[in-house]
Amino acid sequence: QTCNIEQFGMEKFDLQDMTVGFSQSEAESNPFRITETASIEDEAKKRGVELITANAQSDFAQQISDVQGLMSQGAELLIIAPLNSDGWEPVLAEAERKQVPIVTIDREINGNPCEDYVTFIGSDFVEQGRRAADQMIEALGGEGKVAILLGTPGNNVTTERTKGFKDRVEEKAPGIEVVFEQTGEFTRQGGQSVTEQLIQSNPDIDGVYAENDEMGIGAVTALRGAGKQPGDVKIVTVDGTKTAVQNIIDGWIYAVVESNPRFGPLAFDAHESFGKGEDVPVELIISDRVYTQENAEEQLPNAY
Ligand code: AHR
Repeated sequence: QTCNIEQFGMEKFDLQDMTVGFSQSEAESNPFRITETASIEDEAKKRGVELITANAQSDFAQQISDVQGLMSQGAELLIIAPLNSDGWEPVLAEAERKQVPIVTIDREINGNPCEDYVTFIGSDFVEQGRRAADQMIEALGGEGKVAILLGTPGNNVTTERTKGFKDRVEEKAPGIEVVFEQTGEFTRQGGQSVTEQLIQSNPDIDGVYAENDEMGIGAVTALRGAGKQPGDVKIVTVDGTKTAVQNIIDGWIYAVVESNPRFGPLAFDAHESFGKGEDVPVELIISDRVYTQENAEEQLPNAY
């Protein structure tokens, strides 16, 4: 499916003449968020496009008011990295009234493509979960007890990373049992404290699937604190931060499935094509790598 400016009932525009508003959902303490924001800012600079930004610091009500604020400050096009997938109605209604096209990046907004927003640009999160499962199956030789450190609830990324992982394990390795699941809120501190609880309730745990690197790094701290050695518990994570990939080299993390946050070029291309009246696909999937023990040293420069 594609989307065209005529379907929006809008006049064509030149990206160069427009002010773009960017709404970041989470604090820029996570390298994923730092890289994502930098990618948007660098691309705006490269193209000489005026950009105004806001960061909601993981507060959804704040993000709604941030985006409304961006529109009142003059944003004529929006790029949104949503915190939650639901609850966008007030923003979507206002954007429609003001004829402000929206491109969402990394997480989805639940709405109708080419009505509520132009396109969603992100990873194939189910595939990320499957890839993580493949690494875990290999690490455990197809058998063992595994814990999942879930991401934040209320968004498609957590749901899809979980689904991809569980389905693949069920299909390929019935000897692997998921014995523990709890959210670590996509934070390092959250990953550490949930893993501390995990070690108490399941001291014989064989593997940890952390749905992002920050939680995985928190898990390493907890396991180290409990006297474990590198490799005692197989950890597989998602994102591709330098710290996580370095942890593969150091033996603490088994593998890292990349989630590529470099959306800037794709997001500005989408707005540009849309403005020219071209057909824009309503979903654009960015490509991701997998970091393993075999390639971690060589691939470290690609991590963020
Ligand atoms: O939505 C993408 C996820 O959000 C990233 O994996 C994670 O690091 C971030 O918090």
